Amino acid sequence: MIVTIDGPAAAGKGTLARRLAAALGYVYLDTGAIYRAVAKSMLDAGGDPDDPGEAAAHAQTLDPAMLDDPGLRGEAVGDAASRVAALPAVRTALLAFQRRVAATPPGAVLDGRDTGTVVCPEAELKLFVTAGLEERARRRLEELRSKGETLMLPEVLAEVAARDSRDRTRLTAPLRPADDAVEIDTTGMTPDAVFQRAWLLAMERLAALQRGSGGR
Ligand code: DC
Repeated sequence: MIVTIDGPAAAGKGTLARRLAAALGYVYLDTGAIYRAVAKSMLDAGGDPDDPGEAAAHAQTLDPAMLDDPGLRGEAVGDAASRVAALPAVRTALLAFQRRVAATPPGAVLDGRDTGTVVCPEAELKLFVTAGLEERARRRLEELRSKGETLMLPEVLAEVAARDSRDRTRLTAPLRPADDAVEIDTTGMTPDAVFQRAWLLAMERLAALQRGSGGR
């Protein structure tokens, strides 16, 4: 089974996806980390994240070992990632790698912006995870402060809003729920409650697949 989890920045996708993958015994792919890795390798090389040729070259030579680099998590890299992610040549260069990981038996959980719409439109379970802007900004602020960044809420709120807007309005693979996605609004929910909801959906889907009905 392939599970896709899409949604805006800091909605709780990563926490949920990691936990769901571990509980199911599936591989986990944070697709945002791929765009962050391309952005970071460009920034490190002194490149411009809005330059399509340069960005595509970095995407084509991406080293998957970079995905675990703690340096990917900062806000500057997140912003540059959102810029390189709007370039069609970058998205095309990264598609085969994402699909290869998604095909790992016995299953995979992917999170990002377009995993249910473009990367794996055939996924058996698609979740669209959201939360109110203020709550997402607060969660992101907490995460960034725990990593030593000194930012204030208004700054982070503006950054998150700008990134959402860019991710939703770009022409290639914009952020949107797949037609067959189940939406989970995590505003005011604990990570445990979000996990329980997703776990039930996954169990229902697996049972339906075992009955051979596809469950839809
Ligand atoms: O989820 P994240 O904050 O790590 O993602 C960083 C940026 O990467 C995000 O602003 C948009 C882009 N992205 C994308 O365009 N498509 C994906 N599947 C995942 C991330």
